[in-house]
Amino acid sequence: MSFAINKNLEKVNASPTMVLLSKIGEYKQKGIDVIALNIGEPDFGTPANIIEAIKKALDEGKTKYLPVEGLLELRTLVSEKLKKDNNLNYSPHQIVICTGAKQALFNINLLLLNVGDEIIIPGPCWSSYIDTAIVVGGVPIVVPTKDDWQLDIQAIEQAITPKTKAILINTPNNPTGAVYTKESLEAIAALAIKNNIYVIADEVYEKLIFDDAIHYSIGSLNEDIAKLTITVNGFSKAYAMTGLRLGYIALPNDYLVEKFIALHTHLTSNSTSCVQYGGIEALVGNQDFVEGMAQEFKERRDLCLELLSSIPHLEVINVSGAFYLMVDVSKYFNTKYQDYTINNADDLSLYLLEQAHVAIISGASFAAPNFLRLAYSNSKTNLTKAIKAIEQALAQLH
Ligand SMILES: Cc1ncc(COP(=O)(O)O)c(C=O)c1O
Repeated sequence: MSFAINKNLEKVNASPTMVLLSKIGEYKQKGIDVIALNIGEPDFGTPANIIEAIKKALDEGKTKYLPVEGLLELRTLVSEKLKKDNNLNYSPHQIVICTGAKQALFNINLLLLNVGDEIIIPGPCWSSYIDTAIVVGGVPIVVPTKDDWQLDIQAIEQAITPKTKAILINTPNNPTGAVYTKESLEAIAALAIKNNIYVIADEVYEKLIFDDAIHYSIGSLNEDIAKLTITVNGFSKAYAMTGLRLGYIALPNDYLVEKFIALHTHLTSNSTSCVQYGGIEALVGNQDFVEGMAQEFKERRDLCLELLSSIPHLEVINVSGAFYLMVDVSKYFNTKYQDYTINNADDLSLYLLEQAHVAIISGASFAAPNFLRLAYSNSKTNLTKAIKAIEQALAQLH
């Protein structure tokens, strides 16, 4: 018997990170330890002051519905944060608190895209951008970045059509770790203004940035681009609050705000009440945690680059943001070991899980089929063990 479902959903796949997680679960049940280099979340605990604020909110009975758009106190703090850190001018009334940045990004597709409307996404890119655009009947146009993972402005310009509704800019980037230059963002801003298209700026990794790199918010570049820029951010990555599901969207005009909130009233309504108090504490509390985490990630990136450099036939580009490195593994395609044949990055990911007991995700679903995405959100000891195990497993392939 066949059951008809929404045609758009037939083309949608589960998030690959989640799929790998269930495989790791099976291994754990068998008592096999797997080192996870696949996880898109900081391995740091949520700071104690944030936990305490949430506990206090619970003790005070903050468990009821809140305004759908979120606590005004939190929206005011977000507005101040965007001004101070990002030079963005959004009033508290232009900000809606969401259940993670993920919800904000999904809702914005619903809000902007008619069936057949195109959204330009520089690739490699976070897989959810592609699938969520498809869910609402939109058409994701993935435009490859350059060899150094920086934006290819010419290619983006060529991809613009009368159906283009938005360009999605994610810097620092998942999966590449690239931090886009000010010049490239200025060029994107000029294209958006010229063609009157929105820019959706996903800045969830903005605090995880190293070396001399600077994070620029595209909406801060000039007044014209500010009017077209929808900024999305959240607490998951900067404050290690992934499971608490708190993010926000900042919208450039009253009409978008009104319609976004209208949509939100039919979805989750407010995001979890007590967690919003944790968000307040995250913004007003001491920020040392954030800086310490970025420093640790920088050291881990350096360690990974050093260890990977001694493995034959791998290529890695050094990048200055997030906690990911893309590893070009294409030279291992068309190799074999016992019953394994490695035809692509998916095969290699499975092989490394089974032979090295290391979980590392294939780039295929990030529009990067020649790569594995190494997430260094794990201890230096585990990173060292994992990369050595990868080296041994790769050496078996011929
Ligand atoms: C690029 C990017 N945007 C948004 C998100 C979603 O973050 P949140 O946990 O706030 O929903 C993620 C999570 O992995 C991400 O990698």
